Amino acid sequence: MKMKMFTGKNLKKLSVAVCALGIFAGAVVLPVKAMAAETKAPAVITLPTPFTKDGLTVMEALDRRRSSRSFADAALQEKQLSALLWAADGINRPESGKRVHPTTRGIYNIDVYAVMAGGIYKYDPKAHALNRVSPVDFRPQINAKQTFVHTAPLTLFFVSNPVPPRDPSHPVNPERQHANNCLVAGTMLQSVALVAASEGLGTCVRGSVDKAAFAKAAGLSKEQTVLISQTIGVLP
Ligand SMILES: Cc1cc2nc3c(=O)[nH]c(=O)nc-3n(C[C@H](O)[C@H](O)[C@H](O)COP(=O)(O)O)c2cc1C
Repeated sequence: MKMKMFTGKNLKKLSVAVCALGIFAGAVVLPVKAMAAETKAPAVITLPTPFTKDGLTVMEALDRRRSSRSFADAALQEKQLSALLWAADGINRPESGKRVHPTTRGIYNIDVYAVMAGGIYKYDPKAHALNRVSPVDFRPQINAKQTFVHTAPLTLFFVSNPVPPRDPSHPVNPERQHANNCLVAGTMLQSVALVAASEGLGTCVRGSVDKAAFAKAAGLSKEQTVLISQTIGVLP
């Protein structure tokens, strides 16, 4: 078989064709790659009514509470997601709208965000539902070093909002307010840890998070403060 040699003219044609193919492939492949972290998860996740009748006793759950930093590649059950969000910030007295956790001056100014494979969601305690604020899988950006959070099914973020002063003539002391916000978030974290222990799930409170990246990804305003995060997953 006679091999066709590439002449200078043919070579020029070939390189034009290769370039065109490269540009076409780039145009098609690159956007697909850039969108890879986005998912088609639902915009609203309506959670089932939280179970309050089963699980370990409080004393058993306290006995099992510990930090875990290794998780199986498995999803949480819907009822577990429901229980965890309800424990974090849910309403336990519908008649007054008061919640599972205590709070300063009865003002609920801490929002809970759920970072999952399907995006970033904000918890709505009244609807007991999650509303998506970003379709991006933010998990790999939470923390570069603690890689177990990159695949764990759920990381909660606790974000404080400014509160109005009790008396308009006396402005809120920002340091005191921040301390109060941290204390309230601590009570929320512990409830989540107890539900996780009761469900045989692993959990870890995590202060080392990229707060600025999360604020940007979740569309927070500059008045909002990322206080802490908490990762939850299935134990290996
Ligand atoms: C405010 C706070 C921040 C924390 N931040 C991290 C963190 O960024 N990464 C981590 O692996 N553990 C973190 N932890 C978990 C502690 O390391 C852990 O609670 C401690 O070592 C005691 O272990 P135990 O929870 O198993 O009892 C944090 C805990 C708290 C209360």
